[in-house]
Amino acid sequence: MRVAIGNDHAGCGLKSAIAGYLEKKGIAYRNFGTDSGEPVDYPDIAAPVAEAVSKGRYDRGILICGTGIGMSMVVNKFPGIRGAVCHNIFTAKVSRSHNDANMLLLGARVLTRKKAMGIVKVWLGTEAEGGRHARRVRKITEIERRLCKSQRVIESK
Ligand code: RB5
Repeated sequence: MRVAIGNDHAGCGLKSAIAGYLEKKGIAYRNFGTDSGEPVDYPDIAAPVAEAVSKGRYDRGILICGTGIGMSMVVNKFPGIRGAVCHNIFTAKVSRSHNDANMLLLGARVLTRKKAMGIVKVWLGTEAEGGRHARRVRKITEIERRLCKSQRVIESK
């Protein structure tokens, strides 16, 4: 598994902890985030990570900002991205098993470090269940395709 990780200034500490965990587990990753507390704009970090996952350069993405919300708004605009803001082990597990989420968004100002790391471990370790859930995920993809198609028609006019 190849994982793209990133963060704004709110998420430096948690990002380092996640990088340490990935290293310990021998999981390949690239850090797209900032390593300084200087304020940066979360869309500038979220967009390249989402694009890299969307284009299949990475299997999963993990992004951290203050709440996870701004990052989630950005990543879910990219084709094929199913980004989930998770607040606990249950949402982490179900975002993978039911929604086949390929991006995890975390709020460094919302979660304790311990809770966030628990979420990361479960999220990385849970497989998509398939079956009826795969059918629902396919419907998300169909909606996305339809919207992209109508967007192309509008742009060509
Ligand atoms: C930065 O202060 C904060 O707005 C950002 O980290 C994030 O929470 C946005 O959603």
